[in-house]
Amino acid sequence: MKGIILAGGKGTRLRPLTIITCKQLLPVYDKPMIYYPINTLVTSGIKDILIIIAPEYSGHFLNLLGSGKEFGARFSYAIQDEPRGLADAFIVGEDFIDNDNVTLILGDNIFEKDFSTEIGSFKSGGMVFAKKVSDPERFGVVEFDKKMKATKIVEKPKDPKSDYAVVGLYVYDKNVVKNAKNLKPSDRREIEITDLNNLYLKEDNLKVNIFDGIWEDAGDFDSLLRVSNYMAGKAARIKG
Ligand code: G1P
Repeated sequence: MKGIILAGGKGTRLRPLTIITCKQLLPVYDKPMIYYPINTLVTSGIKDILIIIAPEYSGHFLNLLGSGKEFGARFSYAIQDEPRGLADAFIVGEDFIDNDNVTLILGDNIFEKDFSTEIGSFKSGGMVFAKKVSDPERFGVVEFDKKMKATKIVEKPKDPKSDYAVVGLYVYDKNVVKNAKNLKPSDRREIEITDLNNLYLKEDNLKVNIFDGIWEDAGDFDSLLRVSNYMAGKAARIKG
């Protein structure tokens, strides 16, 4: 299993914080944001990690993260010239993925969960995780039938049919590269991870795990503050 961290994008919702640096380098309490997804992958048993970054701040990432040795991992880097959507990570990462399975984590997604059991037993197709939230319209939302079998995922619906948001950690087999290349850009001219997941769902090839751990998408001011406060509280509890 290989890992990809997508840390591109323009972070427009966090302006002016992101005018002179990028979102994934901003602090979450006492660490740069990207430390958290790195830690999630490493604790889930993934050591071979591609970090996809925007050209403007690529030097900052290299200075900060280096070879990955300090994290007990091996880092490679790839430049994404333009934000072309989350599914573009698999096209940028084609050579890196090669013939392996791959886990993608978004650089602004912060988890407190060990995914090693689910990732360790993954064989083929795709696997996503859904969490009950109070603001589903911010996310990809899973629709279920009466037996709680996932039928469809809708990206940022105005009228969500469930409270289950798809979180930013996705697992696929090597076919993901071919599938990503076949996606058509959406109205916002990006290739959407939700379209990719619906493709797997249609083939009855997507496992949707419900999970209840800590998760935050730190992409706007409120969530960034919430997760920083959470981490500060946790550090205080540990100190006693
Ligand atoms: C993206 C995905 C969305 C997913 C979310 C998780 O949204 O498009 O389906 O639920 O990540 O963080 P974005 O953060 O790019 O708005």
